[in-house]
Amino acid sequence: MSEAPRPAGAELAAAMAALHARSFGEAWEEAAIRELLAMPGTLALALGQAPALSGFVMLRIGGGEAEILTICTGPESRRAGLGRRLLDAAAAHAMAAGAEALFLEVAEDNEAALRLYESAGFYLVGMRPGYYRREGAPVAARTLKLDLPAPPNPS
Ligand SMILES: CC(C)(COP(=O)(O)OP(=O)(O)OC[C@H]1O[C@@H](n2cnc3c(N)ncnc32)[C@H](O)[C@@H]1OP(=O)(O)O)[C@@H](O)C(=O)NCCC(=O)NCCS
Repeated sequence: MSEAPRPAGAELAAAMAALHARSFGEAWEEAAIRELLAMPGTLALALGQAPALSGFVMLRIGGGEAEILTICTGPESRRAGLGRRLLDAAAAHAMAAGAEALFLEVAEDNEAALRLYESAGFYLVGMRPGYYRREGAPVAARTLKLDLPAPPNPS
């Protein structure tokens, strides 16, 4: 059976920072990850074993909505379904917490991520021109939304 993403706390902040650096080429500092995780409504889900995680997703849930703050899988683990598994787990957590929608922002030149999100049912709801400051020309962000069904009634 495939491993399920499991909640990851501050004890995995260093491993998440290391994977983020390998995945994006630009690091989120360990301290920044700890700070995010300490905020109400923020949680992370991870795959693999520290110190070499194979993927993680971080999201914030609140006010009936949720937002993916970051998602990444190790370069050596791609196209094996891990990204989709993390995304589905994030959506399930958001739904269980009562969120009606899951949002995220993605660079419009990030083909792999755009395909992943489209295949999971996300759709375009906004554009932010020049949102990502890159060397050379800035790149626009697309804001995507996934509608979440209401969680099943326990009664
Ligand atoms: C985006 C990312 C998380 C995808 O992770 P992954 O583990 O490779 O994703 P999956 O294997 O679950 O892919 C699911 C689907 O997404 C699409 N997809 C993923 N990578 C793709 C690629 N390089 N090219 C085209 N489609 C791709 C495909 O539809 C794929 O299904 P398929 O393999 O059956 O065709 C990963 O590439 C990554 O970490 N990138 C760097 C960080 C990043 O850009 N994060 C997103 C920021 S918004």
